[in-house]
Amino acid sequence: MKYIAILISALMLSGCFDGDSSQSKQYLGKLTFKKNCAQCHGVQGEGLNKDWKKRQANGMFPPPPLNGTAHTWHHSPESLMNTIDNGGVKLGGWMPAFKDQLNTTEKQAVLDYIYDLWPEEIQQKYNSRFK
Ligand code: HEC
Repeated sequence: MKYIAILISALMLSGCFDGDSSQSKQYLGKLTFKKNCAQCHGVQGEGLNKDWKKRQANGMFPPPPLNGTAHTWHHSPESLMNTIDNGGVKLGGWMPAFKDQLNTTEKQAVLDYIYDLWPEEIQQKYNSRFK
């Protein structure tokens, strides 16, 4: 009887840990985004400048919204990860590189956070194209 009780509590515990780990990843994504990305892209990825298609006075484009209203969702997960890693400088932009600032878990959590910002309809299109 005692063993069964232990077994059951072990199962329940592992179940709890599963739930916790996806929740804590969500939290990590939000926190990492807030700390590193929100100053340019907005806390909800809404962008800070609604004219993101228009060059600024310095000839550069403003940071685009990431919340599904711009074209973030046209890019594969690999390509988005590449932007996070390397930024935009090599491509003539000015987004900083995060390769050495964030670890793999943080970067994946941030990418998941961005995906979660998209409306369901866009997530579905994205899934059928890339997942
Ligand atoms: C200093 C401002 C700045 C910060 C900080 C910044 N970005 Fe950007 N981001 C940009 C700009 C500007 C662009 C457009 C390309 C360029 O000019 O480099 C961009 C483009 C992107 C794109 C491509 C969007 C698309 O629609 O194709 C993604 C994805 C992205 N950023 C994610 C992030 C994430 C995630 C972070 C935080 C880890 C972050 N950015 C931090 C300025 C920034």
